[in-house]
Amino acid sequence: MQATQAYIQEHKDRFLEELKVLLRIPSISADAAYAKDVQACAGQVAEYMVNAGLNSVEIIPTPGHPIVYGEKMVDASKPTVLIYGHYDVQPPDPLELWDTEPFDPVVKKTDIHPEGAIFARGTADDKGQFFMHVKAVEAMIATGELPCNVKMMIEGEEEVGSDNLEGFLRKNTDKLKSDVILVSDTSIIAKDTPSITTGLRGLSYVEVKVTGPNRDLHSGVYGGAVANPLNVLCNMISSMMDENKHVTIPGFYDNVAVLSDADRKALNEAPFNEEDYKEYLGIGDVEGEAGYTTLERTSIRPTLDVNGIWGGYTGEGAKTVLPSKAEAKISMRLVPNQDPDRITQLFEDHFKAIAPNSVQVEVNPHHGGQPSVTPTDTLEYKAAHLAMQDTFGKAPIPKREGGSIPIVALFEEVLNVKSILMGFGLDSDGLHSPNEHYGLFNFYKGIETIPHYFKHYTALK
Ligand code: BES
Ligand code: MN
Ligand code: MN
Repeated sequence: MQATQAYIQEHKDRFLEELKVLLRIPSISADAAYAKDVQACAGQVAEYMVNAGLNSVEIIPTPGHPIVYGEKMVDASKPTVLIYGHYDVQPPDPLELWDTEPFDPVVKKTDIHPEGAIFARGTADDKGQFFMHVKAVEAMIATGELPCNVKMMIEGEEEVGSDNLEGFLRKNTDKLKSDVILVSDTSIIAKDTPSITTGLRGLSYVEVKVTGPNRDLHSGVYGGAVANPLNVLCNMISSMMDENKHVTIPGFYDNVAVLSDADRKALNEAPFNEEDYKEYLGIGDVEGEAGYTTLERTSIRPTLDVNGIWGGYTGEGAKTVLPSKAEAKISMRLVPNQDPDRITQLFEDHFKAIAPNSVQVEVNPHHGGQPSVTPTDTLEYKAAHLAMQDTFGKAPIPKREGGSIPIVALFEEVLNVKSILMGFGLDSDGLHSPNEHYGLFNFYKGIETIPHYFKHYTALK
């Protein structure tokens, strides 16, 4: 793959300029006001696929945002790699916390990235990452070095639960026929410590509403005699975790897979410095489930977190009010073998059971997703191991991560194909946060590593 690597070096600057074009499009899937931008972004992705030399490039409409698909079939007797990624992004809010505009990409140096990092919403999650595949494939096609077939499916609804992708998978099992699915939408441990993601958490997400009196009341006239829905909601939420940070919903832990001592030991051997972690986050101490380390708490254990809570008066100054309603968004990160639908049901039953008679409660489930694990004893995994070894000069470490990519479990269920999660981001990239960025080192390292994956996978298969 010498010609491929030379091609990548020669066209580096253009690759970055092209990525900036994608980053300027505010493809925010969660906000209907941006539907046109999401559509425009799909068009730009399709154009890049065509330019890369892919055939049959299509922008496939769905009841939500479109899926962009392309393929290059070189030889029916060769294996097929299906690349998956997402071109939609999270909302950039809160805007005031960004140092530069979220949709005006700029390269700046940072302590971790003295070579520079590109700052914009979607740089690491996932435009900068799926675009590495577009460029790696372009390089292999341009130099005649593509060793096997490639299909590419980039969706526009990952950040809102991939609702329409599931139906697309079910209807297109032939079109998506492949031997392995390659995904770059996760992180490595550090720039000099490559890792391959071997597990993702699942998700159950609910919105709750607590209603007390039929109108907002004077908190002096009625306060003390009428239940305050905000107080009630806070009490209910805080009762859902005990002093050991153990979730108290009955049945919550029923199906949680217990790791062997050897697996836990291996997990905790990954490089991690708790002091640096605390300093980076500006926290006095870590906090989590008793009996587990930080690495375990963020990978093999489930969680319950309030993502947002509101009600009453939040404007300037003091308004004395006893609000009529209180609401919250709550996420539960799940691990094998918890089932998101069952957990959502357990949550709902429990939330209703603990509500006092003084209020009424509602639970509205949002999208969820299954957790997933990738075995490390397969040739699909081995190819990723060898590819990273080639470009980093070091063996990558298998690592389970705390985030979720719900479609990965469905790939296995519907297409019966395993995914390899070979991402190149860093936990410090600011995913879903202000000042999201992606290191140029990581971007180029990814483009260089992907052709090695193709080479090793084709050779091993
Ligand atoms: N790329 C992330 C998931 C991720 C990030 C996995 C870092 C591992 C490490 C993905 O785009 C994401 O944000 N997923 C959502 C789930 C979805 C249902 C909204 C998440 O994890 O919150
Ligand atoms: Mn992502
Ligand atoms: Mn995301």
